[in-house]
Amino acid sequence: MTRSCLSIVLAAGEGTRMKSSRSKVLHEVAGLPMVGHAVLAAGSAGSQAVALVVGRDAGSVEAAVKRHAANVSVHLQTERLGTGHAVLAAREAIEAGHDDLLILFGDTPLIAAETLARARAEVVDGAAVCVVGFRTPDPTGYGRLLTRDGELLAIREEKDASEEERGVDFCNGGVMALNGRLALALLEKIGNANAKREYYLTDIVEIARGEGHRVRAIEADASELLGVNTRVELAAVEALWQARRRRELMLAGVTMIAPETVFLAFDTQIGEDVVVEPNVVFGPGVAVASGVVIHGFSHLEGAKVASGASVGPFARLRPGTRLGEGAKIGNFCETKNAEIEPGAKVNHLTYIGDARVGARANIGAGTITCNYDGANKHHTDIGADVFVGSNSSLVAPIAIGDGAYIGSGSVLTDDVPADALAIGRGRQVTKEGRGREIRERVAAARKAKADAK
Ligand code: UD1
Ligand code: CA
Repeated sequence: MTRSCLSIVLAAGEGTRMKSSRSKVLHEVAGLPMVGHAVLAAGSAGSQAVALVVGRDAGSVEAAVKRHAANVSVHLQTERLGTGHAVLAAREAIEAGHDDLLILFGDTPLIAAETLARARAEVVDGAAVCVVGFRTPDPTGYGRLLTRDGELLAIREEKDASEEERGVDFCNGGVMALNGRLALALLEKIGNANAKREYYLTDIVEIARGEGHRVRAIEADASELLGVNTRVELAAVEALWQARRRRELMLAGVTMIAPETVFLAFDTQIGEDVVVEPNVVFGPGVAVASGVVIHGFSHLEGAKVASGASVGPFARLRPGTRLGEGAKIGNFCETKNAEIEPGAKVNHLTYIGDARVGARANIGAGTITCNYDGANKHHTDIGADVFVGSNSSLVAPIAIGDGAYIGSGSVLTDDVPADALAIGRGRQVTKEGRGREIRERVAAARKAKADAK
């Protein structure tokens, strides 16, 4: 039988050191608010419900989380009286009765699902509390984990620690797993008789031991437990996240020539044998199938790229782009809400927006779909095997039938039937000798100007 698990995410920190009008946990790592990372990790560790403890921006924090978890309850902590007090703000959710509880901080986005699962496993194994710790050469500011023979005896906060305890380098990362059936009674016993007059969640360790329960500590890599307080720390966490994901993707068969210049989003999916050249940025919502080449300096967001396609260099795929098998988007092209069918080529300096480009169609350099009239967006439909000559403007709504041929420099406002040739431009006029006449006139005018000086 599967055990039920509730994750309590503490996000009531004001985060004033971010110097921001937004709640700290809404700041993004890899395109996802920090609090979203904690929630995704909890979900991957098998948690079915999330209780969010917030102090402000409740609505926007809730919205950010609801996109990534189905079962979310929001609890307001109006006074910031400590982590133990914050957890009890979610009393209602705890009372609903879960086998396991996970406690996470909304500003600690690098926590790995495997670590949460390990902490949970200790609880499944009979511990009332399991704390996730880490070792660091500079433990200043962290609660210290006091252990004996692998058992966790207590967590001592920096301000309450003795000289000897401050020398301990095993620190509390803040993440805990609790037995859901015992948690409430233990949490209610937490007092605030300490240096900060705060209700310390960490006191739960001694309380549980005092009642004869087992308490464990497990160790995780310090990087997983990095908390963010400033934008400098936010950037450091972003760098670690990027390094971790690039490595995963490379080990899964993606070639990155200069991985340190490739930026991924939290949900970027890239298949085997894809080559990502330097300086490529992935925004949210991108899936790239196998065998694709993404040339340098391309920017992709909300785009699905089928196998064997080629993108860039210097291409921008905006949301709603679907690139079919073997299709090509070349340099200085932008696509948005565009279905580019298999084998189609959009090679140079082109904008394709709100459009379909049929299979094997060839879109000449400088082609623009004129999709916007200042008020509304209109659709352009380009059939299979169409050839659009360079520097054409397709004024939407417009449909070009299969196999049609569009003369270069056309401005088209009417539909073109299949297999037709359409030319929409002024006719060429050629006047013999007029070029020389003009040149002589200009030269005379220049001379007159110079003589007058
Ligand atoms: C806490 C731990 C400490 C640990 C450290 C790891 C306690 C008492 N101490 O210390 O052992 O080493 O984290 O980073 O738990 N929060 C609320 N409401 C509150 C207080 C805090 O929601 O009333 C939230 C904050 O938003 C934050 C988290 O709890 O996400 C931790 O609070 P913080 O004040 O940063 O705790 P530390 O003193 O760093
Ligand atoms: Ca902190």
